[in-house]
Amino acid sequence: MRFSAAALVAGLQVSAALVVDGEQKPLGFQQKPKGTATKGNKQPNIVFTLTDDQDLHLQSLDYLPLIKKCLADEGTTYKRHYCTTAICCPARVSLWTGKQAHNTNVTDVSPPYGGLPKFISQGFNEAYLPVWLQEAGYDTYYTGKLFNAHTVDNYDSPYLAGWNGSDFLLDPYTYSYLNATFQRNRDAPVSYEGQYSVDVLAEKAYRFLDDAAPKPPHSNVEPRIPSSAAGALHRRPTSEEDDIEKLVSFTPPIPAARHAHLFPDVVVPRTPHFNPSSRASGVSWISQLPVQSAENVAFNDHFYRQRLRTLQSVDELVAGVIERLERHGLLEDTYVFYTTDNGYHIGQHRLQPGKECGFEEDINVPLIVRGPGVKKGAVAEVVTSHVDLAPTVLKLAGALGGDDDDDNKKVEEYKLDGEAIPLTAEDLEEAKEKGERHEHVTVEYWGFALSEGRLFGKDATRFWTNNTYKAVRILGDGYNLYYSVWCSGEHELYDLQTDPYQLNNLLAPSSLDSGNTPSSLLGVPFQKVVVRLDSLLFVLKSCKGKTCIRPWEALHPAGNVRDLHDALSSRFDTFYEKEQRRVAFDRCEKGYIVEAEGPQFETHGLVYRDGHRWDQWV
Ligand SMILES: *[C@@H]1O[C@H](CO)[C@@H](O)[C@H](O)[C@H]1NC(C)=O
Ligand SMILES: *[C@@H]1O[C@H](CO)[C@@H](O)[C@H](O)[C@H]1NC(C)=O
Ligand SMILES: *[C@@H]1O[C@H](CO)[C@@H](O)[C@H](O)[C@H]1NC(C)=O
Ligand SMILES: *[C@@H]1O[C@H](CO)[C@@H](O)[C@H](O)[C@H]1NC(C)=O
Repeated sequence: MRFSAAALVAGLQVSAALVVDGEQKPLGFQQKPKGTATKGNKQPNIVFTLTDDQDLHLQSLDYLPLIKKCLADEGTTYKRHYCTTAICCPARVSLWTGKQAHNTNVTDVSPPYGGLPKFISQGFNEAYLPVWLQEAGYDTYYTGKLFNAHTVDNYDSPYLAGWNGSDFLLDPYTYSYLNATFQRNRDAPVSYEGQYSVDVLAEKAYRFLDDAAPKPPHSNVEPRIPSSAAGALHRRPTSEEDDIEKLVSFTPPIPAARHAHLFPDVVVPRTPHFNPSSRASGVSWISQLPVQSAENVAFNDHFYRQRLRTLQSVDELVAGVIERLERHGLLEDTYVFYTTDNGYHIGQHRLQPGKECGFEEDINVPLIVRGPGVKKGAVAEVVTSHVDLAPTVLKLAGALGGDDDDDNKKVEEYKLDGEAIPLTAEDLEEAKEKGERHEHVTVEYWGFALSEGRLFGKDATRFWTNNTYKAVRILGDGYNLYYSVWCSGEHELYDLQTDPYQLNNLLAPSSLDSGNTPSSLLGVPFQKVVVRLDSLLFVLKSCKGKTCIRPWEALHPAGNVRDLHDALSSRFDTFYEKEQRRVAFDRCEKGYIVEAEGPQFETHGLVYRDGHRWDQWV
């Protein structure tokens, strides 16, 4: 029996999914290739643990000793892992489909632009990771929150496909720490009034593992642990945004009683971008945020502690899962993934608790992997993103074929926008030597942003509109940049090498007007870097499949430009500076309305061809 389990543990919520090979085999046997799966390699078990809203940059991992011991010390931490859309549902759909949000068009947490109904209407219930894993011979199990707007009213219309066993946490009780509602397999929803939801989830996950491990698994339970104050997001009114305050309450996450006393003196790290007093940073609504009062900061510190306390239950759950894998003799044959849907900020850039921004706090998230061949206690520098996770799991399952050609065919068949993450020390070494792996992350967002904490001051705002932007995060040899274009027309460029806290927008109107932009960047005139980044974003914002992974090849089909460094060659100056259209919005929209998003690469892009110089992209 092989299984892969996905346990989703959020910064504040936990859910777990498990995938098990249906063929009953003594452990350790060579698995017979099944269907398109495997070329003689046995299929490993996979456990996938996903938390909700867990930060990397606010140091949450420092407070999780069991995760350190069981995962980080035993596996590899991917410190440059990014989500591609910094909000739950779009991030999760990208993760489970391997596609950028502009290719899922699930861009929000609720209809019409997102939530489970949009996932269903886009046809993904027939084409996402668990379905593909079943086709590859796995049995799949899931517990916890899968998507937003998966509710007590719509859970059976239709049931989510792809799971041999499931126990979903349903809205509107997803974020009720003390009254979760779970819906198991085809059963009616059951409420767990008075029980701590993370503990309920843990029991369900353990039972599932116990059921699945030694015997052929039949049903499975998949619990999820809510702890977030973000309930609002999922019950956001679609009619009048002003009503939000009446419909939801914003409270810090609630820990289990046994953890409520922990960390009494801990506060949000006071980094240079924490509630800066001199000036706000960023663009659009963020640039206008007021300095937070002492009372506000004290509340946010409390909010932070409550998150850390809530995560203790997740820490215990992960250790419990590892302990059971070991007891059943499965641990050495199992890959365990730990990540979160999106990151979180509290007080950085004067922001109230929340996500939805493009700053590192929101997009650079934890990813830890342990398993056969994965280096212990290692930190990987390779750039990875959520759309790489489905390809990674499919590859482990043997469902991507063996050699590169097969891989490409499968990547196209599944319409994957990412590529498998190198997991073993050898794979990481090979990726480094070949230098072919992507160095960028495509970041995109449409619609609103929300302050999830308490509001202080009479003009405080809960709900921000026009939070629509496209960005590229690029980390290569000698550069570390974030470039974005907003629907408002504003631009951002942060050089994280010199400005790790993103306090100095090199493209702020004030910098441009006063001539305060650097005269050069990366050894060439500043503007030459900007136009390359813009052209890169022009390709990425509507890319599909391979173009999302190798965007420079779309601009340079000859294949002689593989990274930003190559593109900076002066022979391409005219091509980038004079010929290319620029990324620009016509207006702000709450969803992916192509007509609002300016020229498209598919119709207006030019490619560089030696001989012709440049040409229409076809
Ligand atoms: C799991 O579901 C798949 C797809 O329906 C099925 O082929 C397989 O037999 C199931 N496994 C078990 C153990 O029931
Ligand atoms: C708990 O949730 C159930 C629905 O699953 C609901 O009927 C019940 O009123 C809730 N209890 C409390 C105390 O909110
Ligand atoms: C949002 O952007 C549009 C332009 O696309 C503008 O007309 C509108 O005033 C903006 N709304 C807010 C609240 O800034
Ligand atoms: C995305 O979905 C919205 C809402 O259904 C729709 O209006 C829009 O045209 C879709 N965008 C694309 C590119 O299909």
